[in-house]
Amino acid sequence: MGRKLLLEHINEPGIQSFKVYRQKGGYASVEKALKTMTPDAVTEEVKKSGLRGRGGAGFPAGMKWSFIDKKSDKPRYLVCNADESEPGTFKDRYLMEHIPHILVEGMITSSYALGAKTSFIYIRGEYMYIVRILEKAIDEAYANGFLGKNILGTDYSLDLYVHPGAGAYICGEETALLESLEGKRGNPRLKPPFPAVAGLYACPTVVNNVETIAAVVPIVNNGGEEYAKIGVGKSTGTKLISASGHINKPGVYEIELGLPVEEFIYSEEYCGGIWKGRKLKAVVAGGSSVPILPTDLILKTAKGEPRLMTYESLSDGGFVSGTMLGSGGFIVMDETTNIVKNLYTFSRFYHHESCGQCSPCREGTAWLEKILHRLLHGQGKKKDIDILVDAAKKIEGNTICPLGDAAAWPVASAIRHFRKEFEEEAAALPAERNLELATH
Ligand SMILES: Cc1cc2nc3c(=O)[nH]c(=O)nc-3n(C[C@H](O)[C@H](O)[C@H](O)COP(=O)(O)O)c2cc1C
Repeated sequence: MGRKLLLEHINEPGIQSFKVYRQKGGYASVEKALKTMTPDAVTEEVKKSGLRGRGGAGFPAGMKWSFIDKKSDKPRYLVCNADESEPGTFKDRYLMEHIPHILVEGMITSSYALGAKTSFIYIRGEYMYIVRILEKAIDEAYANGFLGKNILGTDYSLDLYVHPGAGAYICGEETALLESLEGKRGNPRLKPPFPAVAGLYACPTVVNNVETIAAVVPIVNNGGEEYAKIGVGKSTGTKLISASGHINKPGVYEIELGLPVEEFIYSEEYCGGIWKGRKLKAVVAGGSSVPILPTDLILKTAKGEPRLMTYESLSDGGFVSGTMLGSGGFIVMDETTNIVKNLYTFSRFYHHESCGQCSPCREGTAWLEKILHRLLHGQGKKKDIDILVDAAKKIEGNTICPLGDAAAWPVASAIRHFRKEFEEEAAALPAERNLELATH
């Protein structure tokens, strides 16, 4: 049984409430940090823990915190990214819905470390019912002296707000999020300047994922070194995985980083194997943006070593034979899955969600969708497969934000590993294909 740091009390009746959360040791990290540690000492623990951002990119959290411009006399902000719109990823929703106080606690302890006096949770608009849950938790924290003026009688004060988005995936990209939070259209900004220097209202800002901020709670409680003992290499601690698709037990699991992928898929503790007794065909391991891998490559690296649930092991082999841990959106596909249709669904999503600012993304994602649509309708040509690869290459690396890469990587990898299926679609006649797919 793997250790649980975030979901330890998930089954405790009433854990959503301040009372029960506190009885279970909640808010101890705030007491410890504010009463016994300097802000820099908290950052030091986060550095020691090796915690990497859980929103997708895996950037070391402590290092990001230390980039915050402390010489600036402007206010500093901590913004929690709860936009969670990546297809296949639903772990932040689970955490906020069931244990909202762990996020509120993490926000207070982290804001203290950063010297922020006002902080925000920017949450996906579709999660409106969780806005209510968080607002209740925040009200309880104010009522019990953990938010507001002079928290726990110290000279540290903090106000915390929840701000819902309006349903755009692009607003998960941190600079688009900041634009949206400022009340503008959510278009990504050019970087530099990075948010640590000029973020919200051009002030020093740290943007972190929900799970990253929640992980600060056990890190401060137990010390960074304890946290770093879990995991393998530079992948320390535990990670929430959203497991979906053709498995017996879909859901959100907290794993110790380093767990073999095979164990995650087949053991009863986690996914419980492939449903209906079928065989595994492919896995998208880190949310819809990351390269898809066929069975042999998701279970073992190209060197023949067991593939592990770590940042390093999943990316072993680069984009030729590897993928990414990303946000931990683990989508499992059985032997009956039509990979071209799956890719079409993803590509439609990226085209719809492109903000339109950069031509390669705006035009390229439209072409990806259009070509996949005609391939699936018996109207494709063999050369369409190379056109897809070419269009994906022209998007990759040529846009302000990585939404373009996120649209391109699944295309390149699906064709690399499942080219035969694309050729079969290209050779099919219209009458042989299901025109029901034409949904618009
Ligand atoms: C199109 C796009 C969507 C993203 N959506 C999210 C999201 O929903 N949640 C998230 O935490 N990070 C998301 N990110 C990553 C953020 O830009 C940023 O890296 C992250 O919030 C940093 O937090 P972390 O260091 O704790 O992971 C997205 C990035 C892109 C390019």
